[in-house]
Amino acid sequence: MSVRRLATHQPEGFAFTPANLEWANAQIKKSPDGRQASAVLPILWRAQEQVGGWLPEPALRYVADMLGLAYIRIYEIATFYTMFNLAPVGRHYVQVCGTTPCWLRGADEIKDTCRRLIGAPGQVTEDGLFSWTEVECLGACVNAPVVQIDKDYYEDLVPKSLERILKELKAGRPVVPGPQDGRQASAPLGGPITLTDPELYREEAGAPADPPKPGALKQAPRTSRRPKPR
Ligand code: FES
Repeated sequence: MSVRRLATHQPEGFAFTPANLEWANAQIKKSPDGRQASAVLPILWRAQEQVGGWLPEPALRYVADMLGLAYIRIYEIATFYTMFNLAPVGRHYVQVCGTTPCWLRGADEIKDTCRRLIGAPGQVTEDGLFSWTEVECLGACVNAPVVQIDKDYYEDLVPKSLERILKELKAGRPVVPGPQDGRQASAPLGGPITLTDPELYREEAGAPADPPKPGALKQAPRTSRRPKPR
């Protein structure tokens, strides 16, 4: 994991917008007396969103003052949790998972693609649209390799699919998150091979339903019928 330091260049100050201030005060009120500091994570997250994806030092101090925290406490929190960025990021922030399952499935090529199309890790493109960094496991290993862009996961990537995604985002066009190779969620390529017994999808009092077709799995209807033991 990279060293976590505050950015060299900092803005003059920070203050919540009236709407965010009202929201933050509502979060604080949820905590019992003397425990207002419990609201620190959501409030820091809101501050980061307001600034555009990172936390300048004035914002850290502002939140610390709000919660009656010593500044060192807020620095500890902001430097510990990697969901907080301590330097400016691009409009689209790409987090590339480099942990073992993703690495075994081609994360190095994904990182090379980011270097080629965006630049060095942490560097913001001239148009301000992109920056990227490597992160630890994003918790979607079954769809490795995975990147998180803003709030969405893009999975089962190869350099070409990532390149297409970045191109679409640059053009301002919507991109469908999730698997990028035609997989359905984490089902095998080509479609589900388990839970295909039609009995599983029969409604309690209704007509038999078809089992999911390969490549077209829908959410199974809720039913109290349990699979037969094999
Ligand atoms: S290792 Fe990449 S999501 Fe878990």
